[in-house]
Amino acid sequence: MKWQACLFLPAVLWLLSMPLVLADEPTADGDGVAAGEPEIDPETGMIRARGFETVKNNCTVCHSSRTFINRGYTRKVWLEQIRWMQDSQGLWEFDPETEELILDYLETNYPPR
Ligand code: HEC
Repeated sequence: MKWQACLFLPAVLWLLSMPLVLADEPTADGDGVAAGEPEIDPETGMIRARGFETVKNNCTVCHSSRTFINRGYTRKVWLEQIRWMQDSQGLWEFDPETEELILDYLETNYPPR
């Protein structure tokens, strides 16, 4: 029985290592964000980048993304926009991490032009 395990074990280890080897293969477009031209979400017209899902879920509820993707602001002004909607348009409060992510996304992808 012992000698069989000697053959069996390396075979199992080899099989287990396969997903790791395969996972290491670089994919053509990384995590969906190609360098250079930004990838545009066909549904919203928004740039697909870090924070996209969060901004889509929180910022396309009352108005479409067109309300903000045609604009470019500094982080400070994006925050002022959010505060204005929170103060007078019924926008809910965000926890600090969510607000950071939203501002990072807006500042990075829709800066002043
Ligand atoms: C609770 C509803 C609501 C949500 C959610 C919401 N907004 Fe608004 N927003 C409004 C209303 C109402 C207006 C004014 C009417 C309009 O322009 O459609 C507005 C207007 C704006 C404007 C234009 C302001 C101006 O100067 O005319 C921007 C930019 C904007 N929103 C960005 C955002 C962003 C970014 C988010 C996500 C953080 C967001 N909105 C989420 C209600 C909302």
